[in-house]
Amino acid sequence: MSISVVALSGSLRKKSFNTWLLNAAIELAPAGMSIEIVDLAPFPLYDDDVRLVAYPPVVQALRDKIAAADALLLASPEYNYSVSGVLKNAIDWVSRPPGALFAGKPTAIIGAATGLFGSIRGQNHLRAIMAGLDAAVLHKPEVMVAQAAAKFDEAGKFTDEAGRKLLGELMAKLAVTVEKERKHAAG
Ligand SMILES: Cc1cc2nc3c(=O)[nH]c(=O)nc-3n(C[C@H](O)[C@H](O)[C@H](O)COP(=O)(O)O)c2cc1C
Repeated sequence: MSISVVALSGSLRKKSFNTWLLNAAIELAPAGMSIEIVDLAPFPLYDDDVRLVAYPPVVQALRDKIAAADALLLASPEYNYSVSGVLKNAIDWVSRPPGALFAGKPTAIIGAATGLFGSIRGQNHLRAIMAGLDAAVLHKPEVMVAQAAAKFDEAGKFTDEAGRKLLGELMAKLAVTVEKERKHAAG
């Protein structure tokens, strides 16, 4: 069964550990799951005056992709104990009407940080934000990559075996969650 996932990285760095973690998720995803990483670099800062006229094309494109996707995968660095502004800005754009695009959407949250805590504080904020938007956030397994500089090789491959196993399990659980939602929707 095919499952489409929209993935967002909260870091714009070319050698972002979080974007590399999304690449690892693509590698470890179960058969039939396709994951598209949407680049947030061109996103304007949220402006409600702009929204009331029309969503900027890049924003509308992401809104359309999320509306059509079966699930979401969010990777955020921890910036000053919270989610990055880049990701929060995109979430803010997508959260506004028409529709409630995050509501009920199976959502997996992952993160990498260079410190000892593996983005846990930022992830907790992100989980609260997505719960507030009524997304169906997966709680476990938690993928929090601490001391990220030691867990990726020069080419950006996620090399931590324990972390790879957890990430693979999370992606499998995301697929199961989507399938359950489909069965539920079909009655
Ligand atoms: C503005 C800023 C704030 C940061 N705050 C934290 C923090 O609160 N906790 C933490 O573990 N790392 C923090 N870091 C370090 C990030 O974990 C590190 O830069 C990481 O590589 C960012 O993810 P990326 O590789 O995907 O860009 C911060 C980095 C920046 C640039």
